[in-house]
Amino acid sequence: MWNLTELLLLLLLCFFIIKYLKIIWVARGLPPGPIPLPFIGNLWTLSFKLHPETFKHLSILYGNIYTVWLGETPLVVLNGCKSVKDGIVSHSEELSGRPVTSFLKDLLGGKGVVSSNGHIWKQQRRFGLMTLKNLGLGKCKLESRIQEEAQCLVESITARNGESLDPSAIITHSVANVISAVVFGHRFSIDDGIFQNLVRCNHGLVESMGSTWGRIYDSFPWLMKHVPGPHQKAFSLIDYLHQFIINEIRIHKENGLAEEPEDVIDYYLAQISNTTGNANSTFDEENLITLVTDLFAAGTETTATSLQWALLYMVAYPHVQRKVHKELDAVLGGPQLISYEDRKRLPYTNAVIHEIQRFGNIVAVGLARTCIKDVTISGYSLQKNTMVLPNLDSVLHDAQYWHTPNQFNPQHFLDNDGNFCVNEAFLPFSAGHRVCLGEQLARYELFIFFTTLMQSFKFQLPQGVTEVNTKYVFSLTLQPHPYKICAFPR
Ligand code: HEM
Repeated sequence: MWNLTELLLLLLLCFFIIKYLKIIWVARGLPPGPIPLPFIGNLWTLSFKLHPETFKHLSILYGNIYTVWLGETPLVVLNGCKSVKDGIVSHSEELSGRPVTSFLKDLLGGKGVVSSNGHIWKQQRRFGLMTLKNLGLGKCKLESRIQEEAQCLVESITARNGESLDPSAIITHSVANVISAVVFGHRFSIDDGIFQNLVRCNHGLVESMGSTWGRIYDSFPWLMKHVPGPHQKAFSLIDYLHQFIINEIRIHKENGLAEEPEDVIDYYLAQISNTTGNANSTFDEENLITLVTDLFAAGTETTATSLQWALLYMVAYPHVQRKVHKELDAVLGGPQLISYEDRKRLPYTNAVIHEIQRFGNIVAVGLARTCIKDVTISGYSLQKNTMVLPNLDSVLHDAQYWHTPNQFNPQHFLDNDGNFCVNEAFLPFSAGHRVCLGEQLARYELFIFFTTLMQSFKFQLPQGVTEVNTKYVFSLTLQPHPYKICAFPR
């Protein structure tokens, strides 16, 4: 006769076998990939992270389209420019869904833009794009905001008198101030403690969203919800951000509806009022709070991290810095306000900024999508709701499109005559229906901040420091290791 322990073990074994067979059943028809285990799938192989190096290794083993399992959910990974474009450009509509993982759902509630779907996503995204345009993107208004902020950054750096400084905090504050002007209608003093907390919270939130704990939460939400750990920090950080935004909304409401809306909150409150009673409308305060959180979070970390890479690469590749200085001096002469239009006269500098984005590759493997309908990609039929990852890292390093994919080389964006040229594998903002909503704003910011800094300073390593660490720290964005530099006025 079986004793109780043996019976339990047998039951457990049967349970595992059933789970395993279920995975094998679902995996039929999906692209190949490493063998998944019940419950954890391939999380062990992935070290619980969506790491570019692991994906690169898997594409050598399984080709340009393969499947990995995040717990019990399959994720189809597209690799290389051709395969990624076949997915998100040729089947843009079909791949326009966003997987709302348990962690994201509990944090953001499926509202706003980044993690919403369907009708909410369409309305909120359209509104976001239109409002950025109304606020002057592409016209002088927003551009002069960026120019002012860039000047403030120059002043903060000048005040350090060439002493060594870690530029991350001041850069992040400047970029956060641009997006604050867009969403809240005002900037903050760099010494404002509340604003410093807000920026710190935002950074912490982005970090925890990319952490191993987020992946574990997605696999065992029922358990992790109640277990203490670093993932719980994300909930208190999002609460802080939301409280800040709720307070800004309250102040806007107290001031009454603006005759001439000046920021996202103004436009949104007017929209709520115009659509009250319309059953089709998704404009409400919860979506407003999440939209502002999305814009602030997505708009600060990304651009600030890119600029931090920019300065690091300038000290790592001083010959490139010298050529940028030479071009700026030759074309612009003395100090002057730089506008986005000037990029056409500054092909080398423009190429350097593009190469900073390609080589820095801050969004790593990119954000996952879901199929909102059945679709065939690279010969595989993927069913509705299948999760797909267009691996942006593999596009920005695709050897078929870049001469020297693993080197920092501005020539990637220049023709033989030194003219700027676009490369079709330049997809740091992704592509298709879900392409980055802030792409235009980010391009303006990167160009104006970078050229203003380069026009004002020569950047060098502090005395005694001879090596530059250009390796990244893995988080939701790929960040440089903390570093110090000296800025000497030119
Ligand atoms: C260098 C700067 C930036 C980079 C590299 C970047 C990159 C990206 C990428 C790769 C995505 C994912 C698209 C996809 O699903 O495939 C994304 C989405 C998004 N970005 Fe950016 N971004 C940057 C700046 C900004 C800024 C300044 C804003 C805000 C004003 C912003 C707002 C958003 C939003 C709201 C989404 C979600 C779009 C959607 O799901 O429909 N981003 N970004």
